Formats: sequence, structure tokens, C-alpha cells
Amino acid sequence: MENKPWEKWSDKKIEKFQKDFLTWYQSEKRNLPWRADQDPYHVWISEIMLQQTRVDTVIGYYYRFMEQFPSIQSLAESDEQKLLKVWEGLGYYSRARNMKVAAQQIVKEHNGQFPTTVEDIKALKGIGPYTAGAIASIAFQLPEPAIDGNVMRVVSRLFGITDDIAKSKSRKTFDLATRKILSQEKPGDMNQAFMDLGSSICTPVNPKCETCPLQAFCFAKKESRQSEFPVKTKKAKPKDQYFLAGIIEDSHQQFLVEQRADQGLLAKMWLFPLEEISKKKYDELKITWEKNEQAQLSLDLVAEEETPLLFDKLPVVWQKRHFGEITHIFSHLKWHVLLFYGRSATTFPYTKGKWLKSTEFNTLVFPKPQQKIWAKFVENKKSEQEL
Ligand code: ADE
Ligand code: SF4
Repeated sequence: MENKPWEKWSDKKIEKFQKDFLTWYQSEKRNLPWRADQDPYHVWISEIMLQQTRVDTVIGYYYRFMEQFPSIQSLAESDEQKLLKVWEGLGYYSRARNMKVAAQQIVKEHNGQFPTTVEDIKALKGIGPYTAGAIASIAFQLPEPAIDGNVMRVVSRLFGITDDIAKSKSRKTFDLATRKILSQEKPGDMNQAFMDLGSSICTPVNPKCETCPLQAFCFAKKESRQSEFPVKTKKAKPKDQYFLAGIIEDSHQQFLVEQRADQGLLAKMWLFPLEEISKKKYDELKITWEKNEQAQLSLDLVAEEETPLLFDKLPVVWQKRHFGEITHIFSHLKWHVLLFYGRSATTFPYTKGKWLKSTEFNTLVFPKPQQKIWAKFVENKKSEQEL
């Protein structure tokens, strides 16, 4: 940004701005479990959960997490599967894995006490400038900005900043602008005021400027150009990937589940056996199924040539019926999964996984796509029984 509008604000204007904003926060702030105290551990865990996840969803996860891992020490010593289990459904599981590493760092390098400088906080695994700023300001009252998408939206409108918020180099501009107006006495409250304002009033579409405590200071409001800010280029579309999921049941109502590799997407989590296939094959299989369904609703067996490639090595009798499909979007990938249901007379040994009753599913960590696959299967199985 060439002209730096925040530099034109007088000290007096800044003072008034801070007073108005903090007064608003004091009366309007949301009552959230992690705001009950300013313990850095509480602030840290909540801020990590709140990345990419809505406040309403986070609340329940936060309580369950604190019950199981009430301290840095307990997180450092946590069992990874137990840790992933409380994180189950939140997504971005590397966040949870990194937190455990960071807790171990704190135990080893800081005697188990949360570090108190921004530099030391930033050196912890999984903590970037946003989280470091949030912890430093909320837990230690250090005048550090905590710049996330919400803050960039508010600040871009406030000053008319045209830097593209999707570009990492724009960070500097927002850092400068926010620092300039950040309260030195109550930086934590002001950062949270930005967060609350961004989620309730200065929303992406139709901001409620008439009720906004910042309206007298706001460039976008004055010019009626709210919708022009923030400037943001579109992200690349997620890449499509196609899979078959084999839902295989033995004669004891047990299902075959498989653990994913130690590294990579959804590492060490559990899903029904998946096989990646081409889009062409996926579309063919889907069409075949839909034809079958129109022709007859009986539970005929899948003809030999329709058996999925990988699964045909297993002693499974596949059903011809369409058990539906699910999609799931990760940050950079979109999964399309066709559900295949089959029965096995034997509980054959399977090195990559194990057999489990559906009542035992809660003993393993199931990522979101697996939860969707199971829900879809249950739904379709029920409609089959109603026929
Ligand atoms: N979003 C990110 N951090 C937050 C916090 N501390 N309170 C409310 N919403 C948030
Ligand atoms: Fe956002 Fe409107 Fe408030 Fe400006 S006046 S900060 S655009 S809600």
C-alpha cells in the first residue's frame, strides 16, 4: 500500500477509536469458555481450534479437550490416538500433532512454563504469527496484533486497504496498520474485539454498519464501498480425486476398517478400505449402478467384470445395488467416493486393518469423510430394508 492512511490518524483520533472500540467490547463480548481466564494454555488450544472452525463448533471440542488434557504436561505425554480422538471431526489433524510436539518443546526448553516472549512463542511447532500474536496479547498483554481473515476484513474496510489478502506479502501492510491503532494497555481485548466485530457485525456480506462501533472511523462506510473490501483473489480449485470405498461385512456384523499410512493426509487414521480410481472408471461404475437400479431393485450380485480392481482379491460377494456416494473437501483436494457394499462368509485376516462391530467404531479415530461414508451407508441400508 503506497499511501498509508493509518499514518494520518492523529494520536487523539487513535485514542478515541480505542476507547470506543474497547467500550463496545466490554459490553458486547461473547461469553466463551476460553475467555474465563487468561491462561496461555487455554488461549493457545482455543486459538488453534478456532483456525478454520466456527466458534459454535469449537466450544464442545474445547471442553472435551480440556477434560482429557488439562495441562501442558498432559498434552506432552498424550497418546497420539487419544489426542486425535478428541480432535476427530475438526479436520487439519496436523494441528493436533503439532500441538503435542509444541507441548514437549515447552516441557523440555521452558521447564513446562509457557514462554512469555513473542519470539519464544513463535518458535513453538505449529504456532505462526497469528497464534503467537493472539497468545502474546491475550495471555501476556503484549501489544502484538493477531491478524487473521476477520481482522484483515475489518482493517481493510477501516482504512480502505487494497492489498490482496490472499497474498502473504500483504501481511506486512495489515501488521503496520493494526499495530498503529492497537491499544497498548489492552491489546488482548482489542484483538478479541476485532474478532467479535468481524464475526458479528463486519461480516463478509452485508456488514451491519449502523450498529458498528467503528462507523465514525470507517473509510468503506463513509464511501459506501464496503463490498469492495477486502480485496481477495480466488484460491485455486481443489484437485479432484476419485475412490471406491469397500464396506465389507462378515457374518458377525463386523466391518473391515483400514489404518492409513504413518505420513501424509489423514495419517494413521481409520477408514473403510479405499481404492483410488480414474474419473472415467468412477463415472462408468456410477452409470452401471444407476442402470441396475432402474432395471431391478433386487439385491443381485455384481457381475464379475464390475468388481472393483483391488477388492476383487478379497473373498467378498459384492452387491449390485448403489449405496451412494459422498464428497469431501480438504483444503487442496476434493474426494469423490463411491460406496460399495459386500459380504464375506469368512472373517479373513487383513494385515492393513481389522474387523470391528459398528458399536466399536468409537474406539478408533474416524476422519470426517469416513463419518460421511458410514452415515450415507446407514441411510441407504435403512431405505433398502423399507422396500
Ligand atoms: N476467533 C479466533 N480467535 C477467537 C477468539 N479468541 N474468540 C472468538 N473468536 C475467535
Ligand atoms: Fe465494517 Fe461497516 Fe464497521 Fe466499517 S462501519 S468496520 S464496514 S461494519
